[in-house]
Amino acid sequence: MKPHKVIIDADPGVDDAAAILMALASPEIEVLGLSIVAGNVPLRDTVINACKLVSLSGRRDVPVYAGASGPLVREQVYGKYARIGSFDDKLVKAGDVVVAQESAVQFIVRSARAAVAAGEQITICAIGPMTNVALALVQHPDVARGIRHIVSMGGAFTALGHRTPWAEFNIYADPHAAETVFQSGVPVVLMPLDMTFQALFTTEHFERFRQGGEAGAALYNLFSTFDRSDEKRFGRPGGPIHDATTIAWLIRPELFTSREAFIGVQVTGLTMGYTYADFYNKLDRPANATVVTDVDEAGFIELLIERIARHGGEALDRRLTGGSHA
Ligand code: RIB
Ligand code: CA
Repeated sequence: MKPHKVIIDADPGVDDAAAILMALASPEIEVLGLSIVAGNVPLRDTVINACKLVSLSGRRDVPVYAGASGPLVREQVYGKYARIGSFDDKLVKAGDVVVAQESAVQFIVRSARAAVAAGEQITICAIGPMTNVALALVQHPDVARGIRHIVSMGGAFTALGHRTPWAEFNIYADPHAAETVFQSGVPVVLMPLDMTFQALFTTEHFERFRQGGEAGAALYNLFSTFDRSDEKRFGRPGGPIHDATTIAWLIRPELFTSREAFIGVQVTGLTMGYTYADFYNKLDRPANATVVTDVDEAGFIELLIERIARHGGEALDRRLTGGSHA
């Protein structure tokens, strides 16, 4: 099967790091580039973190593009670790990859148009606030034709929010961008907290990341430094790695269960960022999203660990992964 041509739009971010390194070691995915957005930490730091990760992976064929430094309309919010800024060099060593000159939005537009010209479509894995993706769609509506689907980590339907009692962070950080994407007509595959909370990674799993050479060791450093567990909430040890579910879904969709639904998002007021789904089609409106509701926890965990371990083998390059320059 031909690899998925994928742009990863991210706000690294510890779980973004797992998703990015997983994708860079997976032959099923041709990473066209990373488009970076502010989110977990300010844009300056998400760009530094993305460049460090690509450098660590040895995949110098994968460019990094800087995107939006803030949301479309609401005031800026960051993740709970915003104070740390970029990954400390002791956790993730500095590398020699530098950000491209072209903007992330222009890269998305150029890639989608090139796909259309080649009779293909790209996939966008949106694992941060969806500002870059929304800007590309609003400023250049024609690009929608070049996007097969937007596989996005975000939202909460049956689970309560974790950034506010009602909202998941990526949607909360830019609800207007999420609304634009949901209403764009581009097929959306959404990985909400309902599902990502089902797969909890423990210290034993983090230890196994260390099979993955320098990249795996860096991932171990990040996950063992920033505790993402919440035994009170989850009732057992471990924490989610939200963003990697988007990559796992592209590689092994059979590990997931989903249902079609019309979805929307609250963009103002106390419940800003609240996402809702009409799972029983009460409104008689066409579904605009595939909502991924369940995951095979063991299957997903083993897949992520196995792909990270590949960073410990021979040098990863585009010949091994079928990737190509953007
Ligand atoms: O709510 C989890 C999401 O917000 C993840 O993508 C995490 O990296 C943050 O961006
Ligand atoms: Ca993220």
